[in-house]
Amino acid sequence: MTLDIQRFRDLMAGVCAPVTVVTTSEAEIPYGATVSAFASLSLSPPMISVALGQGSQLLARILRTERFGINVLEKSQEETARLFAARGADRFGQSTWAFDHGMPRLAAAASWLVCSLAQAVEGGDHMLLLGVVTDAEKTAAPPLVYSERLFGTHSVLLERETERKKKAKRLTLLGGDMQ
Ligand SMILES: Cc1cc2nc3c(=O)[nH]c(=O)nc-3n(C[C@H](O)[C@H](O)[C@H](O)COP(=O)(O)O)c2cc1C
Repeated sequence: MTLDIQRFRDLMAGVCAPVTVVTTSEAEIPYGATVSAFASLSLSPPMISVALGQGSQLLARILRTERFGINVLEKSQEETARLFAARGADRFGQSTWAFDHGMPRLAAAASWLVCSLAQAVEGGDHMLLLGVVTDAEKTAAPPLVYSERLFGTHSVLLERETERKKKAKRLTLLGGDMQ
């Protein structure tokens, strides 16, 4: 039996995926693209994997630099995800970013990882990049997720964030009454 590719695409579109902007830099020029094929791989040593299409310009650059950064996008960064997927767009010119450990880091991202390339494995029309994580930072911000070709977030985290904000507001009001 041959698998119907459209059915496979539709099935995979229903899987909830993280949304990241993977970056690298050559001669201090930043490069980056939107990548949802990002996954945790190993704890000892700490490793992750990202999959990039064989035609990706970012892939060619990472294979040369052997280093990359991963910006895990925050729930409201849908525009950033679209910008870093658009061909011909001035991706960094329209973003707030800075170099961190030599890699381009986006200002509002939920989490940040710096990786060195351990291995590049061919997987059909993509390359799976295995990276050793050399630096990592996390914020409490809920992440941007992608499913059924729609952007969103994990609703339970959103509720928790709303509760936290309400509590902080109540405490501020209480503090104001006591003065
Ligand atoms: C939500 C979303 C997820 C994406 N995930 C991937 C991915 O995992 N791997 C990939 O190669 N491209 C992915 N893309 C497409 C790339 O971002 C797009 O092809 C981009 O133009 C590649 O840029 P480059 O050629 O400069 O590397 C994704 C796009 C979007 C909008």
